[in-house]
Amino acid sequence: MEGELRFDGQVAVITGAGGGLGREYALLLAARGAAVVVNDLGSSADGQGRSKTADRVVQEIKDKGGRAVANYDSVEEGHKIVQTAIDEFGRIDILINNAGFLRDRSFAKMEENDWDMIHRVHLRGAFVTTRAAWPHFRRQEYGRIVLTSSAAGLFGNFGQTNYSQLVVTGVITASVETEDGRSCQGRLYVVDGGTPLLGRDLQKSLCISTWHGSTVYEVDRQPGRSSDVEAGNDQDSATQSAAKMGLIGLGKTLALEGERHNIITNVLVPAALSRLTESLLPPELQRQMAPVHVAPVVAVLCHRRCPAAGAVVEAAGGAAATYRWQRSAGIADLELTPEKVLDQWEVLDAADPAAESPDTPAAQMALLSRQLTDAAEREAERREVESAPAG
Ligand code: NAI
Repeated sequence: MEGELRFDGQVAVITGAGGGLGREYALLLAARGAAVVVNDLGSSADGQGRSKTADRVVQEIKDKGGRAVANYDSVEEGHKIVQTAIDEFGRIDILINNAGFLRDRSFAKMEENDWDMIHRVHLRGAFVTTRAAWPHFRRQEYGRIVLTSSAAGLFGNFGQTNYSQLVVTGVITASVETEDGRSCQGRLYVVDGGTPLLGRDLQKSLCISTWHGSTVYEVDRQPGRSSDVEAGNDQDSATQSAAKMGLIGLGKTLALEGERHNIITNVLVPAALSRLTESLLPPELQRQMAPVHVAPVVAVLCHRRCPAAGAVVEAAGGAAATYRWQRSAGIADLELTPEKVLDQWEVLDAADPAAESPDTPAAQMALLSRQLTDAAEREAERREVESAPAG
């Protein structure tokens, strides 16, 4: 095995690195020799307000002898973040698009502004920041880009369905007082053997990060079921899913366009304990899901020797894997009708043990073409048999 993977002489820009996952990426890359621009707007979990959280991470890096500088711009103005790297360190080699927040709305209740805010930060923010870094990467014929998607992007997400694996035995109507003196009323769900979960009404009134430091006064306790939680936690799904899936599309195309300039882009699907997820993750998993366990995978995606491009890479708690599309066996009929589609839906959709995994539009077209040619041959044979003289 070769020695430690290092980033000496390289400059990394990490957005949203004032806490959570981004902070761990910053600490690891800096410890291995990179100079880091620690960007963070310092907003709350739902994207409100500003603070200088990036300063703390910069200080941590400097205390350990590393090089780092803070930047407080929103990724909506990503060119300013990239400019900080150029002004302070003279170059940029690595861009980790990590900044993000959650908006707590179901599709039915979603306002245009919620949709726009999520897209402006997650998808457009990554686009603007990456576009600013791209000319530098092209000029130096080197760049590493990570985009951050999520399970919501891969699968969609209705409510906090993670909860539904837990047994909910009770619903408490509670009065909750936060450390900073705010007080609100709402539901808590009693989970068998775990920390009580916040109902949607309390999540809306409490900033999630204040939950564990809060004092709870019980008002009323009723028996509960897991389905209560699903109904109660009608959390943002559509806008987050759409933006996060959009990042996969962006990443796949950037990977192709960057290939001949040695610009490698990959998409990360992380899962970790952070202020965005502390009320979502099953309590028994929280310890293992520390963000520090995601950082090694990100370091490889940012490294000179990165072995993948356009990959969708999952990382959580020390586990890592890649995702790819799989095509079912499908049907092909040159005289397809709506009735035939409906009748054969099970065959169309059936998982095929020998399934192919097209990973480009051309590969998908090749599969389609092969299937249609086979169908045409079958049709020709059928006609031949039909027209053959009897006997
Ligand atoms: P976090 O809330 O700890 O970190 C996100 C950071 O982004 C915050 O420090 C926030 O201030 C910053 N930020 C928000 N809007 C910004 C903007 N406009 N410009 C610059 N910075 C901004 O959350 P976490 O969990 O570390 O999330 C990091 C990324 O990973 C996000 O994109 C999130 O959607 C994604 N993710 C996280 C998962 C998890 O399990 N923690 C699961 C799937 C995706």
